[in-house]
Amino acid sequence: MKILVTGGCGYIGSVTARFLRNNGHEVTVVDNLSEGHRGAWDGEFHELELLDREAVHHFLDGHQFEGVIHFAARAYVGESVEQPLRYWRANVVPVIFLCEQLEGVPFVFSSTCATYGVPMTETLSEDHPKNPVNPYGNTKLAVERLLRDRDLAGHGSYAALRYFNASGAEPDASHGEAHHPETHLIPLAVQAALGQHGPLTVFGTDWDTPDGTCIRDYVHVLDLASAHLAALKRLVGGGASGAWNIGTGVGVSVREILDSVGRTTGSDVPFIEGERRDGDPSMLVANPALAKAELSWEAEWTQLDTLIETAVQWHRAHPQGYSE
Ligand SMILES: NC(=O)c1ccc[n+]([C@@H]2O[C@H](COP(=O)([O-])OP(=O)(O)OC[C@H]3O[C@@H](n4cnc5c(N)ncnc54)[C@H](O)[C@@H]3O)[C@@H](O)[C@H]2O)c1
Repeated sequence: MKILVTGGCGYIGSVTARFLRNNGHEVTVVDNLSEGHRGAWDGEFHELELLDREAVHHFLDGHQFEGVIHFAARAYVGESVEQPLRYWRANVVPVIFLCEQLEGVPFVFSSTCATYGVPMTETLSEDHPKNPVNPYGNTKLAVERLLRDRDLAGHGSYAALRYFNASGAEPDASHGEAHHPETHLIPLAVQAALGQHGPLTVFGTDWDTPDGTCIRDYVHVLDLASAHLAALKRLVGGGASGAWNIGTGVGVSVREILDSVGRTTGSDVPFIEGERRDGDPSMLVANPALAKAELSWEAEWTQLDTLIETAVQWHRAHPQGYSE
């Protein structure tokens, strides 16, 4: 397939682009490099600002794609609370510009478990109520609805993949997580243990969980990559649109992550006990049964230390992230 990957110089996009290429697909990446890294992708690349309607249309006029995988977005929850308009613009408007020119082209979208809001059940199924508690989650849910409307009107199918916590790196340590600023637990913990970063703050140790820290579902970035290919194949094969949880179904606490990072690096993670953050649910864990049934997808990286080890190797090999 000829596949357009937006945001393919970012963390999940670059790993997925390589995964698609390794599986024989022809991949074109577009990215404005606002957060991504030129060094993260060595295939066909176009620097493109997706908020520039004319530029997007001009680019798409000259290309034919069988599918698009749209990763490009702003993804800092705290920033979205402070700058909601910026998030609505950055996360919704590019989808409109792309869809205007991608008539009938299947669209795979990076959604998030943040579309659910505060969990009412121990694990989250796709039919759980959607009540996002921050602008970031609202923009992702809005795009899901936009894509559903497009599909209902017969203009193209879609797959909304609701990722849980993306984590880990390529096992050969060539590609990994390099956000600036970094806000994700695993890179912060690994960098703290390796002395590349100061102590980590644990947000709340008095949650209603077995060890008092928050529980999340950590899904390896290569498992995310394979979920995108599975979803695109379904759509290209004429399968129905939908939304699928992409998670392991296993909850892991912050303390369990710190213990695992300690084991795999051989150094304790220095950390400070901080206050709870507003809007943080104590637990976010996927029920991934629908993805298994309908996409034939399930997470393979289910051993925590093995997953963390890939992140450790990436940070050891690239203490400053990408060089360009
Ligand atoms: N990392 C996670 O745990 C997680 C969880 C759920 C959902 N997601 C979603 O997955 C996607 C990828 O996340 P990531 O962690 O790889 O983020 P990232 O910031 O590493 O990658 C996003 C990429 O999009 C590019 N981009 C942003 N705005 C653009 C624009 N207007 N025009 C062109 N390019 C633009 C950035 O330069 C960057 O390379 C995002 O949509 C995010 O919301 C991530």
